[in-house]
Order: sequence, then structure tokens, then C-alpha cells
Amino acid sequence: MLSSYYHTENSDFTLYQGDTFELLHQIDGSFDMIFADPPYFLSTGNGKVNVNGQYIKFDKGLWDRVRSRDEKDTFNRKWLEPCTKLLKPNGTIWVCGTYHNIFSVEKCLDELGFKIINIIVWQKPDPPVTLSDKRFNFCAEYLIWATRRSCKDYTFNMDTLMKINGDVQMQDVWKLSAASAWEKQNGKHPTQKPLRLLYRAILASTNIGDRILDPFAGSSTTGIAANLMGRQYVGIDESKDFLNLSIKRKEQINNPTHFLEMKQRMEEDPEQVMVLVNHARPELKSKMMETGICYVRIGDSKGSVLVTYGFERMQYVLLHTNGEDTHLFRLRSKGTFKIWSKETLEGYGFHPEHSPYYAVFNFDNSHEISFPKTPNLKNKINTYRARIRPLEDFFDE
Ligand SMILES: C[S@@+](CC[C@H](N)C(=O)[O-])C[C@H]1O[C@@H](n2cnc3c(N)ncnc32)[C@H](O)[C@@H]1O
Repeated sequence: MLSSYYHTENSDFTLYQGDTFELLHQIDGSFDMIFADPPYFLSTGNGKVNVNGQYIKFDKGLWDRVRSRDEKDTFNRKWLEPCTKLLKPNGTIWVCGTYHNIFSVEKCLDELGFKIINIIVWQKPDPPVTLSDKRFNFCAEYLIWATRRSCKDYTFNMDTLMKINGDVQMQDVWKLSAASAWEKQNGKHPTQKPLRLLYRAILASTNIGDRILDPFAGSSTTGIAANLMGRQYVGIDESKDFLNLSIKRKEQINNPTHFLEMKQRMEEDPEQVMVLVNHARPELKSKMMETGICYVRIGDSKGSVLVTYGFERMQYVLLHTNGEDTHLFRLRSKGTFKIWSKETLEGYGFHPEHSPYYAVFNFDNSHEISFPKTPNLKNKINTYRARIRPLEDFFDE
């Protein structure tokens, strides 16, 4: 019987340590989804990348060393073949890559009787600079999503995806940043995937309670996303260091506060446009509209705005009085504010009373934006508190 490196009591997170080529033949059970982030074969051992103008060594590790075309095919066939046996008849497999490995993966999948459902382009809005003046800057990775050629009823949660995508069909280009600091609180893996990428793949192709296998676990981003979404996870990696990092990440989300925080951040749409919703008395609102200046008290109290996730995507301000008489304007600069003293505001004809300092948002007062929907601004939330809400709250019926 195969012994795990780590497993939770309810078996929703199991890790095996060792060579995936051997372990994949020993693992029990069948899986609804396989998510594989295998070596891309990028590291030459002496490569360099330009990071903020400085050339630094580029080496993901021995496991990522460049290989010949035949070696790549042998490598990919060796893990894909046992994987296909572990996949349920209507299960699907996701494999990440760049041009270095993805053609070999596609070739092996085809030989093993698989068909491609989609190839997702993961576009990074903030890619590192490509060290060459002879090619375009690399800014994308690819995810092959495939199932058996005979399978017609694989899971695709189209309605759920539409719900998180403004009620339109999601496209195969996903614009998502690389893993950020909030995902690396327990340490770093050199090729850590962002949770938001896994969130979309898992949401698309599995249901609550489904089992997911990850033959190249690394820091187990797949497992963390899976557990945050109520799915079960089995991961394999040869590196104890990476598995120990996986355990730390798992133990962090055992804390209910961290669980909720990570889930919330994972589910956030990084492209959603946000609106500052600000209550003002009628005279004050008129003055704000006349000057193009909206201000709120700094700090966590009535009438203040909290700088929370989504703040950086704030592009509009909605002024209202007691939840009524609403006016929408575009901010002059996205996601930023100035700190003004009470005296500076008085210089513009305002009479602030509650605090010596205020956060000031300049907006384009020459053009009021009409919107079809007036959401219930009073609903269960303090009307007087400045809040940040998605723009679609005001436009979608
Ligand atoms: C691209 S990384 C996976 C990163 C992961 N998706 C994450 O978000 O952290 C590939 C991983 O495969 C592991 N690996 C490579 N070859 C392996 C093998 N033959 N057996 C087991 N693990 C292997 C490496 O240690 C590395 O952590």
C-alpha cells in the first residue's frame, strides 16, 4: 500500500513524495480532472532575464532543463500514459505549457486517444521583459484542455462561468497576473501558478466533491484552489521542500479567516471595474458636482472608504443622498486619491467637519454618465458609508 507524505483526516488533501513516473502507477482511484503543470524545459542552466533593468540568473531547477524533441516526447508520454488510466471515462485533463513543451504534449495526447476541447491562452498583463531584440516580448502561456475522443458528456459549467463573466460566454483568452505576494505568504515556488487561473479551470470542469489529480504539484496551487472550492486533491512532487510549502499553504487555509480571505481574493475578477459609492447631503453633492471633487474621511468610520481589494480598479464615483438622487462620473485617474487637509478643502468652498484630513477623488464633472439601473443602495448596508462596488451593479439588469 502506497503511503502518503501528508494527508488530511477527511482525505481532501493528499500528497505523495517521489518520482511521478513511478507513483502514477501505484495511486488508487479515479479522478474527475487532472491538472498538470509539468516542466516546460526552459532552463539552460546559464540563462539570464532582465528584471527591472538588471540581468539575473534564470534557472527554475534541474527538473526544468532543456531537452531534445525526442526526450520531451519520451518524458511526456511517460506521465501522460498512466494519467489517462487514472482519469474517469468522462473526465478531462488540463496541461500547462509554452511552445517549448506544448506541441509534444499535444502529440502524446493525440496518440493516447484524446481530443482537444480548448487551448486557453493565459495572457499576463505584467510579463517580465524578454531578453532579446530579435523577438516579441513573451506574455502568454497555454493550457491544453482535453478529453477522450469517445467522450461526449464531460463537465463544462457554462452557466456558472457566465455568471462570473457578466452573463456572456467566457472566451479562451484569460488575462490574469502571475502569482502575487498574497499567494506567496508561506514561501515561493519558482513556477507557482496563480490561484485565479486554477479557479477558472476547476470551476469550468468539475463539481463540488470531485477528485483532482496533480502529477507535478510544486506548491500545490491546484490543491489549495481545489480545497477552497470544495473539491478533493491528490498531488505528487519529488521535492520535499515544495511539498512542505504545500503543507504550509494547506494549514494556512485550515484557519477559517484565512480560508475566507483566500477564497475571496481567488474569486475576484481582476478586470472588474469598480465604483466608489459616496453619500452626500444635497448641498454638498451639488458642490462636489460643481468642482469635480469628491472627498471622504480617512479611516474606518462612518463616511470613510476602506482601501480594500478592488480599490486599484476604481474608475467611477457615484454620488447619492440617502440612497436616492444618484449621479455617476468617471474619475480622472484610476484607483488613486490625494490626501487633503480640512483647510485645503475649505479653500474650494467645502466645510468638512469630522476630520483634519480627507481622501480626495477628482472626477470629470463635465460629463455625467447615465445608467439604466438604480441599485438598492440602502439594502442592509449603512447608506452613509462610502463603499466600493462593481460597475456592473449599475448596468446589468
Ligand atoms: C512547473 S512546477 C509546478 C508548479 C505548481 N503548479 C505550483 O503552482 O506550485 C513542476 C513541478 O514538478 C516537479 N517535478 C518535475 N519532475 C518530476 C518528477 N519526475 N516527479 C515528481 N515531480 C517532478 C518539480 O519538482 C516541480 O515542483
